[in-house]
Amino acid sequence: MSNTGHERRTRERVEAWTLACSILAEDLPRRWAHSQGVGDRALEVGPVVASTSADATLLIQAAIFHDIGYSETAMETGFHALDGARYLRSLGVEDQVVNLVAHHSCAALEAQERGLDKALLEFPSGPPALTDGLIFCDMTVSPDGLPVSVDDRISEILTRYGPDSVVGRFIARAEPELQAAVHRVALQLRHAGMEALAFASLRGDAPASPPT
Ligand SMILES: [Fe+2]
Repeated sequence: MSNTGHERRTRERVEAWTLACSILAEDLPRRWAHSQGVGDRALEVGPVVASTSADATLLIQAAIFHDIGYSETAMETGFHALDGARYLRSLGVEDQVVNLVAHHSCAALEAQERGLDKALLEFPSGPPALTDGLIFCDMTVSPDGLPVSVDDRISEILTRYGPDSVVGRFIARAEPELQAAVHRVALQLRHAGMEALAFASLRGDAPASPPT
């Protein structure tokens, strides 16, 4: 990797963190804690799920930005994936990052629940490897930014919103794909020798000696 490329990618990561911090930290501190945790997760898994360091940087940027649509600054329709993507696009953020944010964690299914599926078509889906990677990061980090298993994450969302809410209905429909994506990434992590993280993402805290 050239120094110039490395420096550019480092700058892009720092700029994403700075922008997200300026929008979320004061008004939505819990979302900011979650976003930082998801960004940290992307730093861990990026080199495994992405085929290039440029793609790993896209994943990290999307991870830190993915919930920015909850902020008052970005909110327009009330659907955070769409609002966040539109807001980031208005700022000139790279298309590939914007597209990942628009479709993060099966957002197309939530768009259907909200009658906004046609609006979400403004944004094409991202590459499958990064889409899976972002699901893994979002679904293995708690609302407070702490590590959590995918089962506990989905249960917490259902409990927080209620099964009859828009989000509750969405998450119930999305669960098979969210689980499948987390399992796909966990398998990649195992192959990369990251057994403890793979185990924890599926089963919670890793034992002292994870099973092989
Ligand atoms: Fe999230």
